[in-house]
Amino acid sequence: MRKLSHTTRPDGKRAKGNAASDQNPLDQLYEDHMYERQVCAMIDRLATDTQQADDDIRVAMAFLRCRLPLHMRNEDAALFPMLRQRSEPEDDIERALSRLEQDHSNIEHNTPAVLKLLEEIVASQARPSSRACADLMAYTAAARRHLIFENAIILPLARLRLAPEDCAALSAAFRRQHDAQISAGGCDAA
Ligand SMILES: [Fe+2]
Ligand SMILES: [Fe+2]
Repeated sequence: MRKLSHTTRPDGKRAKGNAASDQNPLDQLYEDHMYERQVCAMIDRLATDTQQADDDIRVAMAFLRCRLPLHMRNEDAALFPMLRQRSEPEDDIERALSRLEQDHSNIEHNTPAVLKLLEEIVASQARPSSRACADLMAYTAAARRHLIFENAIILPLARLRLAPEDCAALSAAFRRQHDAQISAGGCDAA
């Protein structure tokens, strides 16, 4: 990946001094979204660029294995329940959150196959088949739709409805999710 956010390291972890606990949790989620957009662009380039760098593919795989699952747990277990509590009836939040939770379920289901394709591309050093390209691009198209919806609707609503103490509680919840991922033997995405 040639143009990473300055707040992230090439291995997909956050830069030192920018740990989750130092950051507004909504800014942290937005940063994850920007990073995911870069990963999607890299995956799309696989379909057209035979000179794709292995390092870029490995960065994308690290994101899909470590940071994306943590990001979705932060939303499912912390942000979405808090939004359900804090939203006003006119926000019509339930329909939106149900859609996003279904998206997360689909992403969780589809990501292992995408990781397998990326591993095969690195191992074979061959251009992916047209079928593989179609699968990769379907995955990134769905990811982008999800990101657009969260950036346009969910994060602005959260910034409007959540009080500073809610954000502090979110930060603590994110830290617990991170620690649980490490305790469970998962990778360090912080
Ligand atoms: Fe998100
Ligand atoms: Fe999400």
